[in-house]
Amino acid sequence: MSNDQFTEIAPYYDDLMMGVPYGFWVDYVEALLERVQFTAHSVLDAACGTGNVSEVFSGRGYDVVGTDISEGMIEAANAKNSSVTYLVQDMAELNLDRKFDLAISLFDSLNYIIDVDHLGKAIKRVGEHVVDGGYFIFDVNTIYALAHHFFDQANLAPGRYPHYIWSSEYDHQTRICTVNMTFEVLDNGEPRQFKEVHLQRGHSLEELEQMLIDAGFVTVEILHAYRFRKPTRRSDRVFFVARKEGSRKEV
Ligand SMILES: C[S@@+](CC[C@H](N)C(=O)[O-])C[C@H]1O[C@@H](n2cnc3c(N)ncnc32)[C@H](O)[C@@H]1O
Repeated sequence: MSNDQFTEIAPYYDDLMMGVPYGFWVDYVEALLERVQFTAHSVLDAACGTGNVSEVFSGRGYDVVGTDISEGMIEAANAKNSSVTYLVQDMAELNLDRKFDLAISLFDSLNYIIDVDHLGKAIKRVGEHVVDGGYFIFDVNTIYALAHHFFDQANLAPGRYPHYIWSSEYDHQTRICTVNMTFEVLDNGEPRQFKEVHLQRGHSLEELEQMLIDAGFVTVEILHAYRFRKPTRRSDRVFFVARKEGSRKEV
């Protein structure tokens, strides 16, 4: 991950995500688990950001640990003072000394791991933290979305801070999408601008499937996000439902 992303924006991230339906995302993950008839009690939220998904799971009674590489994001998560444990950890170096029924990584976090070896390692480390028969559910932005400038977005609505203008460039060779982000936040009523450059890689579905296999997972389903149907060539976001090989010992 380049080191100028999720740094200055971290304290404003929840304002930026104001309209994001985190509860609905958790409903969807729960529906996916129901579909495979799996009951989870513990959840690892890998690349949890400021913990918005973790907090919803926790509020629904799950035992949750959230990890993220960004110190600023984890600081904002910890400020929520909830029962979730939040830790700064690179997914590729994940080391929690326990296993979970379910690991999740939502909101295209895996696209931020742009080095293929690093990504393979990250998926393996997640695998080490999931019980046999447990699940890893994550979403990614597709190559289609990144190549078609889905990141070109702006919010300049008066009064609705942070304001932002994002513009992206996609390199078809490297499959790296470079997103130049300009933010304007209000600090003590005064507008302040800063920039972050976010890099995402368009991982192919086949690459991800192979990495899951290498990490001891079986891909159960790949779905068009928030639906229960297969993705198409034009799907912008897809969900993977992967099961860790072996069978769970009920406790
Ligand atoms: C778009 S945010 C999503 C955060 C959160 N999952 C959510 O739904 O709000 C992507 C997150 O991935 C994290 N991230 C990127 N690379 C990572 C890595 N190698 N290990 C752990 N977290 C990482 C970033 O710090 C950032 O918080």
